[in-house]
Amino acid sequence: MTNITFYVPQDAAALAVGANDVVTAIQAEAKKRQLMVNIIRNGSRGMLWLETLVEVVTPEGRVAYGPVEADDVPGLFDAGWHEGKPEHSLYHGLTEDIPYLKKQQRLTFARVGIINPLSLEDYQAHGGYEGLKKALSMAPEKIVEEVTESGLRGRGGAAFPTGIKWNTVLKAQADQKYIACNADEGDSGTFSDRMVMEGDPFTLIEGMTIAGVAVGATYGYIYLRSEYPQAADVLNKAIAIARETGWLGNDIQGSGHAFDLEVRIGAGAYICGEETSMLDSLEGKRGQVRYKPPLPALKGLFGKPTVINNVISLASVPIILAKGGAYYRDFGMGRSKGTLPFQLAGNLKQGGLVELAFGITLRELLYDFGGGSASGRPLRAVQVGGPLGAYLPESQWDIPLDYESYMKVNAMVGHGGIVAFDDTVDMAHMAEYAMEFCAVESCGKCTPCRIGAVRGTEVIQKIRQDHQREQQVHLLRDLCDTMLSGSLCALGGMTPYPVLSALEHFPQDFGLEAAPAASQA
Ligand SMILES: Cc1cc2nc3c(=O)[nH]c(=O)nc-3n(C[C@H](O)[C@H](O)[C@H](O)COP(=O)(O)O)c2cc1C
Ligand code: SF4
Repeated sequence: MTNITFYVPQDAAALAVGANDVVTAIQAEAKKRQLMVNIIRNGSRGMLWLETLVEVVTPEGRVAYGPVEADDVPGLFDAGWHEGKPEHSLYHGLTEDIPYLKKQQRLTFARVGIINPLSLEDYQAHGGYEGLKKALSMAPEKIVEEVTESGLRGRGGAAFPTGIKWNTVLKAQADQKYIACNADEGDSGTFSDRMVMEGDPFTLIEGMTIAGVAVGATYGYIYLRSEYPQAADVLNKAIAIARETGWLGNDIQGSGHAFDLEVRIGAGAYICGEETSMLDSLEGKRGQVRYKPPLPALKGLFGKPTVINNVISLASVPIILAKGGAYYRDFGMGRSKGTLPFQLAGNLKQGGLVELAFGITLRELLYDFGGGSASGRPLRAVQVGGPLGAYLPESQWDIPLDYESYMKVNAMVGHGGIVAFDDTVDMAHMAEYAMEFCAVESCGKCTPCRIGAVRGTEVIQKIRQDHQREQQVHLLRDLCDTMLSGSLCALGGMTPYPVLSALEHFPQDFGLEAAPAASQA
């Protein structure tokens, strides 16, 4: 009897909707029918509205069914899903042909959802470790050059060129250097770091190892948010496999290069995603923002030169080394090179992960991929780039998503989180929430943020209650100016973005006269 192979994701999003129950149901039903099944736990394909997305291996390719619940399983067997048959309402045809996936340009996420995350064999069969193999044969300067040539900019939010950062650490003289991976992923509506760590952990390990070889760092830390236990489990298992197989350790694949790493769990503060707070937290202190200079690249973790990069930045490095910087920079536009995994969240029919070259528009993401609002009501505002990102009204949805175009309209692409709201949203309430968030999450080191966010919350409350409205709006603008220019880090310094964009584009929600139609630039 031949084995039937099913793929059932073990990604946290799938687990949250009962993927483990689906596995139990498949095993029980197969036993009843005397069928031999082989169930592989993969990462998510990123079509979250279809989770649990079960794939069945057929001679034509992998066939998708979703969203599958445990109760659906007997009916799916009756309909012949184990032979990839189409006679069921949850049938979607070949996974690779689903338009949501087919229209993407998956570079960093090329393997996510396809491979077994903990199979080194699978990883290498899909191009894994090609980048590191190349890097091991190159001079450190050449590796850094390749990353610089790719145009890769930090995907954690600030978009700083990765090659320049690496070069600073490479040139620093020290007895010890570190690679610190920022996996705190605190932005609202974001999950790309989690998906890559759960679905393709060796990519991150490979990227960090390449970074270590490039700058001369022998040890790395992954600073992981505590809300990601599944990612912690997968990463720890992958790290153990990499050690056992000589991809981590004192002499990586006999190259003479040493690199090892470990996962450290954070404790749930948004500010610990800010890189210098993260260093404090990694050192066992309360996470508080450090003054710069010194730059962490020169004096970072435990006072040593440290590369700090986001998960996606580091996970993009293996393909850059494997295919060359020029290949990567061919995607994108202007100074925004390569691809970004956009994360569609909020009031959308089809939330999920969409990796595309920079230059796509919000409207395309919202409608061609997101399928419009989940509520069926018109979409009204979209927050891009996390809780410090601006709210964009419909008049700005055709601006190409690239760092510079967004900066021109006081918005930011950030980590690529996109949270959509329909026309029932009260934007004055959202502005108040932005200030309140800053007040709660402030590390307290500087006055504009620590005091400003509390006063800002009160001022917006007064505006909403029509208490000296005009005067309070004036005060709010003044306060935002102070926070923008006087805060030590971007938490206080960028909270004005969501607040002012709400005020600018949705004045009627603040009880003010509607502004004339907003322009695009
Ligand atoms: C308040 C605040 C929170 C941040 N949270 C994160 C985070 O969760 N993950 C992340 O990678 N970067 C975060 N950043 C950005 C980091 O400070 C830093 O720019 C980044 O880790 C550098 O890596 P990259 O160059 O690869 O983006 C945050 C910044 C601020 C100001
Ligand atoms: S802006 Fe806020 S979070 Fe940043 S250093 Fe100042 S008080 Fe801390």
